[in-house]
Amino acid sequence: MQILLDTANINQIKSVLPYFPIDGVTTNPSILAREAEDVNDTLRAIRELLGPDRMLFAQATAHDSAGIVAQAEKLTKELGPNFYTKIPVTMQGLRAVAMCKERGLKTLVTAIFTPMQALLAAKSGADYVAPYVDRLDNITSDGASVVGEIVNLYNEYGYETKVLAASFKNIQQVYNAASCGAHGVTVTAPLCEKLIFHPYTDRSLEDFDIDWRSRFGEKGIDQLLK
Ligand code: G3P
Repeated sequence: MQILLDTANINQIKSVLPYFPIDGVTTNPSILAREAEDVNDTLRAIRELLGPDRMLFAQATAHDSAGIVAQAEKLTKELGPNFYTKIPVTMQGLRAVAMCKERGLKTLVTAIFTPMQALLAAKSGADYVAPYVDRLDNITSDGASVVGEIVNLYNEYGYETKVLAASFKNIQQVYNAASCGAHGVTVTAPLCEKLIFHPYTDRSLEDFDIDWRSRFGEKGIDQLLK
């Protein structure tokens, strides 16, 4: 399963990237408006941190298909090769996805709330779709179930489009989406750190240290090997 960071905060990316097996970074207009002092500098800095192989996602802000494709072309040229244009699931968006596919530009169809939206996105040629799990949970729907239904539809019809579940507020939502077969999840940096937190893990490590020091002091295990 792929794990992406849903942020444009450079410090947060730096604090997580060296430690977690991160496949890339996703952004959206709200994230960039909140976290980027300068969009150009921020996107280029994220690409620099990610290196050429990890994925970077940014959303087109144009609403018409020609405008979306023009933005996808420029973004890919400047931030590629592993760059994906996020395109909202609108009629103009679907048309833009098909046009991007013809031009070899990679896309993620975003703001997905129903399996049918996801099916149309896949048929239009999307590489990824992003169903919004927490936003679904907040309208008394079940985000993880929607993720599972999309995965099942793609398997049923043989689409290679991947489901990148998004909009998580807690670890249980991430786990539920993973259990339903999400190909990837995109999480904030603080949530990513929580993915491995458990108080008993910390407690166990403290106990190991106490036992070791009480017998061997500050010597490391390598120093005791002869
Ligand atoms: O980037 C899309 C998605 O992750 C948005 O999440 O937290 O604004 O619902 P959120």
